[in-house]
Amino acid sequence: MGARALCVIMERKILILDLQIILSVFFLSWFWEFYFDDPLFGLLYGMNYTEALAMKWHIVFLNVFFASISVIIPSWFFVALQKKQRKLEEDIKAFQKFAEFSGQGFVISGLDGVITFANQAFGHMIKEPGQNEIVGKQILDYYPDVQRKRLENEILPVVTEKRQWTGESSLLSCDGKEIAVIDSIFHVYDEDGKPCYLARMITDITSQKESERMIKLFQRKLIKTQESERSRIASELHDSLAQNLLVIKNEIERGIQERRGENGTVDPLARARSLTMETLDEINEIAYKLRPPYLDKMGFEKAIKRMIEKISKSMGINIFTEINRVENPLPKDLEMNVYRIIQEALNNIMKHSGAGEVYIDIADNGACVEIHISDDGRGFDSSAITSREQSETSRGLLGIKERVNIYDGSFLIDSDKGEGSTLTIFLPYSKTAGD
Ligand SMILES: Nc1ncnc2c1ncn2[C@@H]1O[C@H](COP(=O)(O)OP(=O)(O)O)[C@@H](O)[C@H]1O
Ligand SMILES: [Mg+2]
Repeated sequence: MGARALCVIMERKILILDLQIILSVFFLSWFWEFYFDDPLFGLLYGMNYTEALAMKWHIVFLNVFFASISVIIPSWFFVALQKKQRKLEEDIKAFQKFAEFSGQGFVISGLDGVITFANQAFGHMIKEPGQNEIVGKQILDYYPDVQRKRLENEILPVVTEKRQWTGESSLLSCDGKEIAVIDSIFHVYDEDGKPCYLARMITDITSQKESERMIKLFQRKLIKTQESERSRIASELHDSLAQNLLVIKNEIERGIQERRGENGTVDPLARARSLTMETLDEINEIAYKLRPPYLDKMGFEKAIKRMIEKISKSMGINIFTEINRVENPLPKDLEMNVYRIIQEALNNIMKHSGAGEVYIDIADNGACVEIHISDDGRGFDSSAITSREQSETSRGLLGIKERVNIYDGSFLIDSDKGEGSTLTIFLPYSKTAGD
């Protein structure tokens, strides 16, 4: 309100000043022409007295005319500029009024980053004790080093080019904590379309991030529990059931030997023996699937190759495998997850694809495992698979997705009917992640 009144008063003053200047020029010209200059000056040029007098009036009015132009035009420009500035300030005031009590953080800074306005929510977010102290500070000081560099090198050029940027970032609160935020940065333009302020709309997503972290932790624990339960069942099957069956098989064997001596009828017992052996094989196979023993015994690379070899032989398809890894061992849970992902992908290829050739490429650079699995089979509509109803019945691809999620990784399916399929999986891991 104060600024607006000030501008109106200034405009009035300029107008009065303009009028004063024009009137002064008029009177000065008139005074000069009629009192100091020779009124008959024009007679020298052959005019009569009346013509000379008319010319003098002419000169007076010309003087006034040029004085008016030279005073009014700059004043007019000045007033127009003032009006634009006032309009922009009013717009910003309206924005501030709207933003003042919003739950989201709002900050306006000059193009140099010096804050001119910050609402209460922003103050609470960064735990600034005095709300008024934010104004005048540099906005970049509220970002951690990494984000500050990202802002300067990546984000601000995008804001200049595309007028706005929205994405995840983080702020540094006054007590030194990092706050996860969604930052939306955009320019405020003046009437000529020139950017004059940078505005920010900031949403605190700390609790959302925390829930995501908890969900991932839960998923990881769930998968771990699942694996250890599988492992327990596998041990029970292998150590107890399979052991008993082996004893039964041996007993039958002895029975066969003894009965052979008596009357030579061995058929029912022989059938029982072969059935027992088949059951034993099946139990060992189930135990192997439940908990791949080679992963512990032979290590990751050999265990994977062995599993692939087994599937390749049983299906009669060519599987070309390439594994490139750095020397460091992978976290144990990651090894198991990679194993399970490849196992499920190969199961699907066996069950659904009718492929003749499969390519598996596993690369580990010490920070991320990258897996590509392609087949030349019948392919499928991957968009339909990701829909919810399908997920209820098809657990395999969903299981891969869940395993990828716990590493914040990515899982892409590139497939179309009749065109084969390619799964691409990225599993970033850090030294501490995993076990
Ligand atoms: N390599 C593949 N080739 C063709 N179809 C596939 C392939 N992988 C998956 N699919 C299709 O995706 C569906 C979902 O797979 P999945 O989630 O593993 O469930 P399930 O194997 O139990 O059917 C399969 O039913 C199949 O139609
Ligand atoms: Mg499946």
